[in-house]
Amino acid sequence: MPASIPESLQQKIEERLRYYEDLGIQLFYRDRVAAGHSSPALPQSTSRITAEESSLSKPKSKIALPASAAPVPQQVEPVVVAPPSGPSLFDAMDKVIDDSLPKIREDLGDCTRCKLHKGRHKLVFGDGSATAQLVFVGEGPGADEDAQGLPFVGRAGKLLTQMIEAMGLQRKDVYICNVVKCRPPQNRAPEPDEVETCSPYLLRQIDAINPKVIVCLGAVAAKTLLQTTRGISHFRGEWQQWRGYKLMATYHPAYLLRNPPAKADVWKDLQKVMAELGLQLPKKKSS
Ligand code: URA
Repeated sequence: MPASIPESLQQKIEERLRYYEDLGIQLFYRDRVAAGHSSPALPQSTSRITAEESSLSKPKSKIALPASAAPVPQQVEPVVVAPPSGPSLFDAMDKVIDDSLPKIREDLGDCTRCKLHKGRHKLVFGDGSATAQLVFVGEGPGADEDAQGLPFVGRAGKLLTQMIEAMGLQRKDVYICNVVKCRPPQNRAPEPDEVETCSPYLLRQIDAINPKVIVCLGAVAAKTLLQTTRGISHFRGEWQQWRGYKLMATYHPAYLLRNPPAKADVWKDLQKVMAELGLQLPKKKSS
């Protein structure tokens, strides 16, 4: 490393390289140089499942890309997950015109609509850009989130932040929220009645933001939005069409903390998201 690089920058570069190694992509730079392009070819989606979208899709307007994003035209063929039989949780929900995040937060108020309110310290509404092209949806707040009133600020949150930064974005460029807004006791999975009570607010948040891509972090988010009982490992990494949005399910950062080898799968999924958003991988520093 030349002496002219400040130590703080050198540390940052080393941290970033260690993180890419953590993700299992130590061959990445070599591949890039050899192939002469910035990202590996997208694998084709292999499964096509019956559509739920006809009555649920909605027209979408385009929002400006963040400054760091250079558009790259990309054809990605969406696939959809079959809904269970019976009415969808979201069937009755049309897009509310002129909805906004402050209005949704105001409607939630000091919510007591489900039993989760009894144990919460702070309601965790969501955080980030109201015009984000990319929305991450997690499961529900943990202890740190409950204490701070912000999503993904604990250990799993730090990993999510690293993932976002590896995509060339910052947390403020995206929007992060959860299926349920209050911490389930002992971090148990939210129960069906809690999900049903809270998810209309999630749906409104997503519609108010109108992102280009939704990333579901973990099975609870994926199963809630897609209304499927299929295991996430069967459809993670495949584009889904959901209410007119492109949706990608991937593993939850908390799962990655327990199972680091799965980081490589998540990185592959996030690279597809980057391609869809026209995001470039950070450039290699030439020595
Ligand atoms: N896990 C989640 O699903 N959401 C959070 O906000 C934090 C941890």
